[in-house]
Amino acid sequence: MIRSALMNVMTAAALKAGRGLKRDFGEVENLQVSVKGPGDFVTVADQKAEKIVFEELSKARPGYGFIMEEGGEIEGTDKSHTWHIDPLDGTTNFLHGIPIFGVSIALAREGQIVAGVVYNPAVDDMFVAERGQGAYLNNRRLRVSGRNKLPEALIGCGIPHLGKSGHARFSQELSTVMGKVSNVRRLGAAALDLCYVAAGRYDGYWERGIKSWDIAAGLVMVKEAGGFTTDCDGGQDMLTKGSICAGNEPIQAALLNLIKGA
Ligand code: IPD
Repeated sequence: MIRSALMNVMTAAALKAGRGLKRDFGEVENLQVSVKGPGDFVTVADQKAEKIVFEELSKARPGYGFIMEEGGEIEGTDKSHTWHIDPLDGTTNFLHGIPIFGVSIALAREGQIVAGVVYNPAVDDMFVAERGQGAYLNNRRLRVSGRNKLPEALIGCGIPHLGKSGHARFSQELSTVMGKVSNVRRLGAAALDLCYVAAGRYDGYWERGIKSWDIAAGLVMVKEAGGFTTDCDGGQDMLTKGSICAGNEPIQAALLNLIKGA
């Protein structure tokens, strides 16, 4: 496990927000059967979680800036540090009572992501990574998978939801990838998708149309577990382009080729 002061701050914020989300998740399961459904309740749960993370991190590291899913961008007095926060990644899963969601917190220093935490309170999985310190799930050191052949690879992806652009392109990419790999999964929480790559559960993962707060923590997780990440054009502009292709070294390269050629 990583025992730095920074990690303590980040995990404490994720745990506190996660405890609230876990309670609210129990309520969501009850609301499924109501006529009104859990939509508004989930929006409030999301906002509450973000408020907790924002307050905890502001207290511990005054002056750092924020880029948050709900609250947008808040410039700090310390221009070299910015938090990227998704208080509830996997909102649709949460809304439907599926226990695959998490709090995602990343810290950028001079524009580089140096630490990340992704916490799924439903199963008490705490993924952490810090530059140069490795990546861990709870107390277990993470390592990307050793599979190096596409026909053996399990690949995660993101599917553009209704109202989002890129449906035709995704279908094209999926059909290309499907024809070459063992199988494809869609988890519904990008931060966890990347943690799954770091943990060697997935051999690769790609998605387009994604925001910085969805992937910032996962990027350092994959890197510290020995994996590789690029945007879907092969560059390093994942956060600004909003596209991501990740995996162990051979699968990341092969997956990127498939996507580019689709
Ligand atoms: C979403 C999830 C999903 C991805 C979407 C994201 P949210 O984040 O990460 O897997 O496909 O693009 O927006 O909205 O649940 O925080």
